[in-house]
Amino acid sequence: MSRHPTHRPRRLRHTPALRDLVAETNWHPAHLVLPLFVKEGITDPTPVPTMPGVTQHTLPSLRKAAREAVDAGVGGLMLFAVPERKDAVGSAALDPDGILQRALRETADEVGDAAVVMSDVCLDEFTDHGHCGVLTPDGRVDNDATVERYAAMAVLHAEAGAHCVGLSGMMDGQVAAVRAALDAAGRQETAILAYTAKYASAFYGPFRDAVECDLRGDRTTYQMDPRDAAGALRELALDEAEGADLVMVKPALAYLDVLRTIADHARVPVAAYQVSGEYAMLEAAAARGWIDRDRAIAETLTAVRRAGADVVLTYWAVEAARRLG
Ligand code: PBG
Repeated sequence: MSRHPTHRPRRLRHTPALRDLVAETNWHPAHLVLPLFVKEGITDPTPVPTMPGVTQHTLPSLRKAAREAVDAGVGGLMLFAVPERKDAVGSAALDPDGILQRALRETADEVGDAAVVMSDVCLDEFTDHGHCGVLTPDGRVDNDATVERYAAMAVLHAEAGAHCVGLSGMMDGQVAAVRAALDAAGRQETAILAYTAKYASAFYGPFRDAVECDLRGDRTTYQMDPRDAAGALRELALDEAEGADLVMVKPALAYLDVLRTIADHARVPVAAYQVSGEYAMLEAAAARGWIDRDRAIAETLTAVRRAGADVVLTYWAVEAARRLG
């Protein structure tokens, strides 16, 4: 018997061309979605301190950033807006001329059909208490009253130019209600990206700086419990039945098992959101020279894709698209 093994997995690893030939996980910039923040009432773009490289945009700088992303080949843009005034019910969200609506109009005008314009349908950017919905007199998040507001918001977003609305609030029945409202408004073509398995996560911390969300308490009564994986399949069944066109898992890195399960069961395309805390922790380590930034970014994005994501929302979308393009 030979002293050497017959099976030599290293044979296919010797050159870059051999590795590329058999690579299982492949990327195209069109699968990437860039989240963007716009803030009402500022004259200059403002850096987000906990997310180095990420900016709160003015409307003109938003346009520029959208153009830059599209030119890099990024497939989608997800818009979040910070209004000048917040109140208990998030009134600015339902103002036809509110900041998110204006931002969507400008972005849709700038990019046309060259990228998918997406909007965040949620109230936490707009409420002064920071919850994702309106509250009952005793301070709980009122599911059905919130869903009614989401439905009205989604119609405003579609009218402002959103091709796809992102339902990130984790209210029960939100997909069905938004679908019905969009259809009633003649917006049958507006797609719904459902945040199907969105966990109550510490990794959203920097995002709350970006949207100036001053949440007291937590979101554990509506977002999923990090201990719970089977619940993601229950949420998937409901969102698909209610008409979700895409389903999402969020955060990404700490929930790759959930992502794989959802990808194995979903009948619609699957997205994953590499969230603010995932971005911040890697950037912070890289800034100290503790990690190889570029390799770590590529590795985490590959992991998310390998775990089953068709679409990835990431603050590195432009950079990653340029590297892939
Ligand atoms: C809710 C929303 C959040 C994020 C996206 N949509 C915050 C939350 O649920 O607390 C977080 C995204 C990130 O951390 O990058 N509007």
